[in-house]
Amino acid sequence: MKNLFDLTGKGAVIIGGAGGIGQAIAQGFAEAGARVVISSRKEKALRRAKQEILEASGVSVRCIACDASDEAEVEALLRDSTAAPEQIDILVNAQGFNQKYPGTEFPADVWDKMFDTNVKSLMLTCKHFGKYMKERGIHGKIINLSSVRGVRAVGNGGMGNVGYCATKGAVDMLTRAYASDLRPHIQVNAIGPTITYTPMMVGLLPDKEEDRAKIASAMPAMRIGMPEDCVGPAVFLASAASDFVTGQIIYPDGGLTAVG
Ligand SMILES: NC(=O)c1ccc[n+]([C@@H]2O[C@H](COP(=O)([O-])OP(=O)(O)OC[C@H]3O[C@@H](n4cnc5c(N)ncnc54)[C@H](OP(=O)(O)O)[C@@H]3O)[C@@H](O)[C@H]2O)c1
Repeated sequence: MKNLFDLTGKGAVIIGGAGGIGQAIAQGFAEAGARVVISSRKEKALRRAKQEILEASGVSVRCIACDASDEAEVEALLRDSTAAPEQIDILVNAQGFNQKYPGTEFPADVWDKMFDTNVKSLMLTCKHFGKYMKERGIHGKIINLSSVRGVRAVGNGGMGNVGYCATKGAVDMLTRAYASDLRPHIQVNAIGPTITYTPMMVGLLPDKEEDRAKIASAMPAMRIGMPEDCVGPAVFLASAASDFVTGQIIYPDGGLTAVG
């Protein structure tokens, strides 16, 4: 049973691997035995994440900078991360961002940027890494970071998530469609966290403790998520434990989607 979740010998690329959720997943994979490459645009953030993962787990990960919304850069990431004798078996798309505006004020350029980062970049990485895995007969695992906002519009009377909700709904369907296209040996699934303490959320959470408590109280677990809450679902979806699971979205959301 223990071996079901073992990632020894597997190669994993985690895009957004210096972000809150991506770094936690990268560390979890490294601790489960995988060879890990973390990637995002800023080299300095990658170096910081590499050092923190080393200090926390004793495992050294590789860093490759890449803007995943640029097709040429994704192709270069694939080349660099799979240069012989390395093989990549697992891809995690943990990149993303959110900017809130009332629906009547949403700037079209922010909309485009949000779709480039939250949706187009996932298509580009699924396209190139999926093709690579398929051509080599790799039993690959692709894990996309979606959100509860892919299936629930904003709760707690809040507003401003028109763009983010639309991108995450797209991530859910992109996940199912790639699960179909990359059959039968590559599984494509998603993780849909609830509001989680990460750099992305720092500026978006309310300042007052009572307002944060109100958000937490919407969930049966009565708390806001932590990056570590995504690690178990990610290890499951990356490992042999999920070999018959594809096209699904797992919600580490404290029960929000069960009751909301
Ligand atoms: N935190 C939450 O409450 C929450 C809830 C539900 C879902 N999610 C989803 O979970 C994922 C991770 O979120 P997070 O909270 O961990 O965010 P985060 O801490 O802001 O990390 C996001 C990461 O994405 C990278 N990134 C952004 N644009 C990129 C691009 N074009 N190419 C490559 N990397 C890029 C960033 O690094 P650079 O800026 O250096 O590129 C950063 O490492 C996102 O998809 C987010 O939508 C988060």
